[in-house]
Amino acid sequence: MGSRHILVTGGYGFIGSNFIRHMIASSEARITNLDKLTYAGNLENLRDLEGHPRYTFVKGDIADPADVAKAFSGQIDWVINFAAESHVDRSILDPDAFVKTNIYGTYLMLEEARRRGGEKFVQVSTDEVYGSLPAMGKFREDTPLSPNSPYSASKASADMLVMAYHRTFGLPAVITRCSNNYGPYQFPEKLIPLLVSNALDDRPLPIYGDGLNVRDWIHVEDHCAALALALAKGEPGRVYNVGAENERTNLEIVELILKVLDKPKTLITYVKDRPGHDRRYAIDNTRIKRELGFQVRVPFGRGMEETVRWYVDNRAWWEKIKTGEYLGYYEKWYGPGAYLKGT
Ligand code: NAD
Ligand code: TYD
Repeated sequence: MGSRHILVTGGYGFIGSNFIRHMIASSEARITNLDKLTYAGNLENLRDLEGHPRYTFVKGDIADPADVAKAFSGQIDWVINFAAESHVDRSILDPDAFVKTNIYGTYLMLEEARRRGGEKFVQVSTDEVYGSLPAMGKFREDTPLSPNSPYSASKASADMLVMAYHRTFGLPAVITRCSNNYGPYQFPEKLIPLLVSNALDDRPLPIYGDGLNVRDWIHVEDHCAALALALAKGEPGRVYNVGAENERTNLEIVELILKVLDKPKTLITYVKDRPGHDRRYAIDNTRIKRELGFQVRVPFGRGMEETVRWYVDNRAWWEKIKTGEYLGYYEKWYGPGAYLKGT
């Protein structure tokens, strides 16, 4: 990977921070991180890299042309766009920032990359752009886009812009579409860290609908390895699905967490279903395995056990988040009093 200079956006979020740490440790790459530090961006996520000679932080917004131009200054070899509003439930409460960041922000990133002559550009997308699957079948790269939430619709829109910039302007852009990630530093509004942190405090564990929706879970470290392959070897104009062939119902997830923590099933609380809730996601990862040599390395059992332990060992990290804005969001979404201890 040599000493390339990579512009990463959204590097203070969950996957971006894991990716930057992965790249600094596994290559000689220099990293510039453009991040707005929204509610989901957290300086604690990369404390260990502060002052590192190959790491630079630029605070700014991908939906602001001046900030984007600033982050692109100097020689850049590769661009990887993580920056996004990423939570489906927040997109139901207020889609505005999703359209601004995920669509307009991606457009500005593409425009700047094109203006400068076309760096390799990886768009970190999601399997949610494909919509929902019935009990059988898997998402392939040629599955039609059929997003159901404002979040997934904004990501699908960005994907279309990326493809248009490749086809019209020849921008060497690649799209990855990964399934649900789990691992350290995930914001505790998402299922797994929400359940683990609530269970540790003996708070109710909200499960939507019948708990039988299926997600295809992958450890964030495996996703980061796939992204590094897409940057180095991805063919411009190509889409790569990323997944670990690991489908689980939400009930299986909550029961596994309760078992690791030795907490009672009575904490499980069925709540009103999410509107437009996709029933099932499942990824066919044949292409990235065959064409880029991707391999899943983290087995689900070990990955989950280590992840749950990380939240046990890093209570201060999530306790600091679960205050102020977070509690306001929680009560607005789950209802007044929903965060109170059940017993
Ligand atoms: P996250 O919400 O944890 O982090 C998002 C980061 O982007 C934060 O650091 C935030 O400050 C930053 N950001 C938001 N708006 C910005 C803006 N306008 N300008 C600059 N920075 C901004 O998200 P995540 O879970 O790490 O997801 C990262 C990317 O991966 C997203 O594009 C998401 O769609 C995609 N993805 C996520 C998953 C998953 O399971 N979490 C799966 C597949 C794809
Ligand atoms: P989430 O982590 O929000 O990811 P996504 O919706 O992007 O797949 O949710 C994962 C699954 O867990 C999804 O089926 C919705 C469900 N869920 C709950 O049952 N309760 C919750 O409190 C949350 C946040 C999610």
